[in-house]
Amino acid sequence: MYKTSSNARVQRKPSVDHVAIIMDGNGRWAKKRKLPRAVGHQRGVETVREVVSGATKLGIKYLTLFAFSTENWRRPPEEVTFLMNLFLKALEKEVKELHSNNIRLRVVGDRSAFGKVLGGAIENAENMTIDNDGLNLTIAANYGGRWDVVQAMNLLYQEEKTSNKDSFSEEDLSKFLSLNFAPDPDLFIRTGGEERISNFMLWQMAYTEFFFTDELWPDFNENSLKQAVTSFRRRNRRFGGVDTNLESEIVA
Ligand code: IPE
Ligand code: IPE
Ligand code: MG
Repeated sequence: MYKTSSNARVQRKPSVDHVAIIMDGNGRWAKKRKLPRAVGHQRGVETVREVVSGATKLGIKYLTLFAFSTENWRRPPEEVTFLMNLFLKALEKEVKELHSNNIRLRVVGDRSAFGKVLGGAIENAENMTIDNDGLNLTIAANYGGRWDVVQAMNLLYQEEKTSNKDSFSEEDLSKFLSLNFAPDPDLFIRTGGEERISNFMLWQMAYTEFFFTDELWPDFNENSLKQAVTSFRRRNRRFGGVDTNLESEIVA
């Protein structure tokens, strides 16, 4: 039998602490305007700035943005080079502003593929903002959900290989995932009309609420983010349990 608490009938609005976004549609945004894809990516950086500021205003604590996937190396080399340079320039240009807004920046993903310059800029940005306790902004670059699980497994193996342990828990593994500092995302947004997760946070999105929009990333703005959050707040998260509004009806 289920226990009822005095506020069992009160459905509290779910809080949105962590928002994860696949920023998709830069290329199509440019194509619609007969512009090179690169221009779409440049405009995409401006959207990032607006969404970061919008997230702060909405009280979101963690914002994770997918910037480059482990599969994006399949793109033409000129586009890959352009994206890497754009990431470097954006880091160098924005880090002081992020810092002055008390934002902590982290980059997750396999950094071994980045050159010294980009690797150094990432380290510099992370170190500069390390003590900030405002928005936790995480950029997923050369990131893949499967890569994350495998790298966590390897780290766990390194730690435990001399121990006698022969089985591990979800907690044991998740300690080594690259987003171990953040709660699982409450809300996942994908722009650009595709309804898939393209190897984003596979482990962490087990109970995340999904929001898909046809808006292309360069057109997405603070108001679009608000709409996604409003949609999220209307939802009833059960995590496999029972709707708290119905709980009292179950008790005989
Ligand atoms: C998202 O926009 C940015 C990256 C994947 C780096 P796209 O470049 O995927 O844009 P579309 O999907 O081709 O329109
Ligand atoms: C997902 O977008 C990756 C990023 C936004 C970084 P893609 O454009 O690469 O995804 P697919 O190929 O349409 O699944
Ligand atoms: Mg795309």
